[in-house]
Amino acid sequence: MQELAVFGGPRAVPAGMVKTWPPLTQADRDAVMAVFDSNILHGTAAPNAVKLQEAWANFLGVKYCLVTNSGTSALHMAVATAGIEPGDEVILPAFTFWASAATVLHQNAIPVFVDIEPKIWCIDPKKIEAKISKKTKGIMPVHIHGMPCAMDPIMKIAKKHGLVVIGDACQAHGSKYKGKYTGSIEDTTGFSTNRSKNLSSGEGGLFVTNNEDAYNHGKKLREFGEVVVHGKEREYNAYGLGWMYRAHEFVNALCLSQFKRFPKNNAKRQEFAQYLTSELEQIPGVAGPYTPPEREPVYFSYIVEFRPKEVGLGDVPMEKYKTAVQKALAAEGIGMGQWQKMPVPAQSVFKDMKGYGKGCPWTCKFYGKKIKYDGADYPVTNQFIAEHAYLTGVYPPNTMALMKRYVKGFQKVMSRPKDIMKLVDGKK
Ligand SMILES: Cc1ncc(COP(=O)(O)O)c(C=O)c1O
Repeated sequence: MQELAVFGGPRAVPAGMVKTWPPLTQADRDAVMAVFDSNILHGTAAPNAVKLQEAWANFLGVKYCLVTNSGTSALHMAVATAGIEPGDEVILPAFTFWASAATVLHQNAIPVFVDIEPKIWCIDPKKIEAKISKKTKGIMPVHIHGMPCAMDPIMKIAKKHGLVVIGDACQAHGSKYKGKYTGSIEDTTGFSTNRSKNLSSGEGGLFVTNNEDAYNHGKKLREFGEVVVHGKEREYNAYGLGWMYRAHEFVNALCLSQFKRFPKNNAKRQEFAQYLTSELEQIPGVAGPYTPPEREPVYFSYIVEFRPKEVGLGDVPMEKYKTAVQKALAAEGIGMGQWQKMPVPAQSVFKDMKGYGKGCPWTCKFYGKKIKYDGADYPVTNQFIAEHAYLTGVYPPNTMALMKRYVKGFQKVMSRPKDIMKLVDGKK
């Protein structure tokens, strides 16, 4: 077998072969330029905003959709329109992007974290009830890395305790639980369409719900708390607190254009992921993700598990093993990355608890309780972060030819535990 690239051998993946996401086409350019020519640059009744909302609601099979300027704004709208108020507690996973928790704080409410399911990395429904208190008003399942959460048990718990369910589907466009799209099961849901997402517009968000009141509330929140009716003179009267969450028409046009290729692109991600998982299963030292039969993930990220014991390196500390393997893979042209380095409750914002200042919202009189956050309370999240990393490039316009080269690269690196040890010992 050839020498590892890190020690001077040839690369498994030629330089320049891995393409970035999202693929941009002439049709995307034409769609954005058509906005330029139309001179309609914004507005909640602008043509691309309206068409995009209809397209996304139809795709999910939900009644209402509102396009916004980020996933965070869409998710904040989902929290607010679900009826979360100052001092309420919202339960969410310790493994997520911190924006999930920020949207709860933005509503002057309190995030309460729960550990994740072993092997699956979504909120563990078995651990939710222990965290429910008199203050709990909602649960936020986060369909992380494109993996749908265990929605049946979550909805059952919510029903039993009279809680709302707010979906964070920012990473999960088109994923399904028992045949239903994530975003169509929850009371309110936020999606992100930022650059990296399966449905991408550069920056943007989509709020969805089946609830008419939440939809009407959402429209006000998106535009300064005003009721702006297309074709009627603006009142300039705020009916309540609102934000400026409107999206730009360039972005809406790009999103709509990308949406036309979105199902095909998702199918490609699934095809690549299934191939990689079946191949990695046969390579000692690493493994692809585990998918329960009732869940259809869309692989926003393709996650790889590191298993040093399988190559006789069980005594090497995980971090050193992982770093060495990633270094060898990177030299082969196989890029991996660490998404999240600690449980969200271990981040400084939850240690300092300054919030808006003066400790608000934790010190808010409507809360009236003390809460402490400690990253060590989430052992499954910590273990998941330690043992996993994501693999770049598992999406179109990359092709199966790249996935095959990835497999060859993994086979090459993982069959050389002695070389991995050299890297662990700092010999390169
Ligand atoms: C799980 C999760 N929630 C919320 C967000 C926020 O989305 P955005 O970056 O579009 O505001 C993101 C995206 O980065 C995310 O991954």
